[in-house]
Amino acid sequence: MWFAVRDAVFGKDAYPLPEVPENISRPESGERELPDLPPQFEALIKMLMNVLLIEVRAESFFAFCCAVFRSPANFTDRRAAAEQAAQIVERIRQDEAIHVAYLRVALSELRSFTLKTVSGGMKPAAAVLDPLWAQMVEWHGRRERELARERTRADIGCQVIAGLGDTKGKAFLKEFDALGEKEPIPA
Ligand SMILES: [Fe+2]
Repeated sequence: MWFAVRDAVFGKDAYPLPEVPENISRPESGERELPDLPPQFEALIKMLMNVLLIEVRAESFFAFCCAVFRSPANFTDRRAAAEQAAQIVERIRQDEAIHVAYLRVALSELRSFTLKTVSGGMKPAAAVLDPLWAQMVEWHGRRERELARERTRADIGCQVIAGLGDTKGKAFLKEFDALGEKEPIPA
């Protein structure tokens, strides 16, 4: 879908197919993080948390793309294609909203339970899950965003220098970076 909308607004074959990252979940250290639970339940809970936060990140990108496509200042010679691209994004966005809802229900209900631990005790699920959830939010909501920003800036830098040459490209990037200082990306 992203490649279809990209080609709609920039034109067919304007950009090559980029490499798709293998994994967009929080990286695993290999250490157990929910030692109160059997490993298969830890894996299931982490998968649900990762998917929910990936969906939340996707929602913010859907909103960003629709705003960019629908701004009359952008794609001025391809307004109809840009509107069609926004509509395609909206359709996927609607579908993904359902995924956010079921994941919220599953994790919230689980959090309300009392869990039997591997050592035979009982613990409120909130006490087991909340510290992991806080780390997931920190990674998906802050750390990954910072890393993505660095990666994207490096990509833009390469494309600008390749397109404009060294002198013009560096001047352009200086202006580009100054925009980021003036208008920080909203949290
Ligand atoms: Fe989804």
